[in-house]
Amino acid sequence: MKNMEESILVIVKPDGMVKGLAGYVLTRFEATGLRMVAARMAKVTRELAEAHYHHLREKPFYEELIRFIMGEFDNNQDNVLAFAFVGESAVKKARAIAGATNPEEADYRTIRGSLGRVTTKGIFENVVHVSSDPIEGEREIKLWFWPEELTVELFPSKLAGNRKVWVEPGGPKTRTGPWPEEYK
Ligand code: CMP
Repeated sequence: MKNMEESILVIVKPDGMVKGLAGYVLTRFEATGLRMVAARMAKVTRELAEAHYHHLREKPFYEELIRFIMGEFDNNQDNVLAFAFVGESAVKKARAIAGATNPEEADYRTIRGSLGRVTTKGIFENVVHVSSDPIEGEREIKLWFWPEELTVELFPSKLAGNRKVWVEPGGPKTRTGPWPEEYK
């Protein structure tokens, strides 16, 4: 990764998958000129969902958020498509095409503004997840990908047995809190 470059995780969420929007989302992200360095279909277990949204665990919508990303509101579609992108101002560029978190507040030309909705139960069906900043981007990419699944060496890794692992693992560490015991 060059100076000034940022890396981010993008996920086509279960609502995007059931609506057949994976290809469209990728097309929009490709148009940003950011470099795609990883892509994988992922089965979202509760463990992965909880680690991913660890920083939101105190929020009133947390449990719904976990069940949503596990596909429980979308016909149990627990397969999502995850991408890692790298480039200058990646967060800004990605968030500009994704739109505001709340689809009803998102510009209608964005992915969330044109294709997302808030359900009558108040759940945000917002089609994509995009890392909120470069620190979260690094944490999330490390959580969703093994080092060998990336086409470039974004972050330091080391050999453990016969596979590479991240030197600083991508657990639910955030800027605002310490690593929980189980992820140290
Ligand atoms: P995402 O980009 O995956 O990151 C956190 C998610 O929390 C966000 O998208 C929304 O789906 C969800 N979220 C954030 N704020 C709210 C809210 N006020 N009510 C319900 N869900 C929310």
